[in-house]
Amino acid sequence: MADTINIVIADNELSEREKLKSMLANEADFQIVGEARDGREAADLVRRERPRILLIKEDLPVQNGLAVAEQLTTEMPEVGIILILTGSEGEEVWHKMLRAGIREFMTRPIAADRLIEEVRKVARLQEKQNRRTGATPSVITPAEGPKHQIITVTGPRGGCGKTVIATNLAVALAGGSDKVAIVDLNLWGGDIAMLLDMTPRRSLGDLLPGFGGIDYDVVDSVMGKHGCGVSVLAAPLTGTFDGSTLSRYMVQGILEALREHYEFTLVDTGYANLESTLAAMDYSDVILVVVGMDLPRLRDGKLYLKNLLAANYPKEKIRVVVNRAGGSREIPAGEVESILEFPVLAQLPNDEGLVASSVNLGQPFVTNSPNRPLSRALQNLAEGLAPSAAAAAGKKRSGGRWFSFMQ
Ligand SMILES: Nc1ncnc2c1ncn2[C@@H]1O[C@H](COP(=O)(O)OP(=O)(O)O)[C@@H](O)[C@H]1O
Ligand SMILES: [Mg+2]
Repeated sequence: MADTINIVIADNELSEREKLKSMLANEADFQIVGEARDGREAADLVRRERPRILLIKEDLPVQNGLAVAEQLTTEMPEVGIILILTGSEGEEVWHKMLRAGIREFMTRPIAADRLIEEVRKVARLQEKQNRRTGATPSVITPAEGPKHQIITVTGPRGGCGKTVIATNLAVALAGGSDKVAIVDLNLWGGDIAMLLDMTPRRSLGDLLPGFGGIDYDVVDSVMGKHGCGVSVLAAPLTGTFDGSTLSRYMVQGILEALREHYEFTLVDTGYANLESTLAAMDYSDVILVVVGMDLPRLRDGKLYLKNLLAANYPKEKIRVVVNRAGGSREIPAGEVESILEFPVLAQLPNDEGLVASSVNLGQPFVTNSPNRPLSRALQNLAEGLAPSAAAAAGKKRSGGRWFSFMQ
């Protein structure tokens, strides 16, 4: 192959460098252009050789491998960096990696075929990025223009309508385009695939064995696409997977990969206190809290919101949606806010017939019955979260106030 992939290897142990070299030796288009024994040497070598790939151990003397990677990511974003971990790194390393935008890593022991695959993949991704950013990129940012958003739908208890809302919101935000993904984090059996009448062949459960090196290609390989354009990462099939093993890092890795690719990533959650739910919330731009419309649920909602603030979730990230409004013993809109002690972004009307038939048919009501008040309220909600997206979808605003559907 004409396109040579130049590689620098940085590891303080000779035997490990030799191992890596021998694993890469049989690939005709790979060329090892330098070896470094510590972090500083690695950085100097990369500046001099400008390789396409730097394979760098995290735990390096003189200057730590992650620090070097972080520095080079800004200084020379055209270099693809693969961090080599021992697997015993603590939480801080993961946080630093994610914050520094370093997504490519491998955990020892490393298999030759995985290493080769990883080098090729990172080289390909870098190439794509270099083409996007031009020849002399100065900073690495995932996207130009409007920021890509992760919206996690959560709430104080089950049965408030999180799944119904997340699914229809995803469809409304997509407006027929392919810029929206939805992740079903209901780890003991989620309903999103069913709500969209999909039979996923693969799911979140298939990602677990691939823990090392989550990236968009890997996540995409287990996703399905709905006819309306939304990409779906389905929940593991019931009984196939112990959801509690889905770590915070895994969730963040998945979301970071999706954020890079999709304008909106919706995350539907199950239990509020799971590590994976909290990770999604931590990593989100918007936390959409769904509260049911009756007094006990509103009280739960109030407590839940208080707890979120106490746990230092920024208030600006939190948006409250009250669901199933408009029953016979209606609580006035203004009162809802004073019960919750929180501004309410939207109240969605109760419409059992519409929701039940939409669920049973596997057809989202926002597209199936777009003119029903509940569908319009969802559309308005999408517009509130993404004015340009809803406009692009050609949907007109049915009012302009969140409470417009309530006449
Ligand atoms: N606005 C609504 N009007 C009528 N029924 C609704 C509405 N939203 C949700 N439901 C119903 O409430 C139940 C719980 O909804 P679901 O989305 O599964 O909640 P969660 O995901 O929070 O557990 C489902 O039977 C659903 O059909
Ligand atoms: Mg649900």
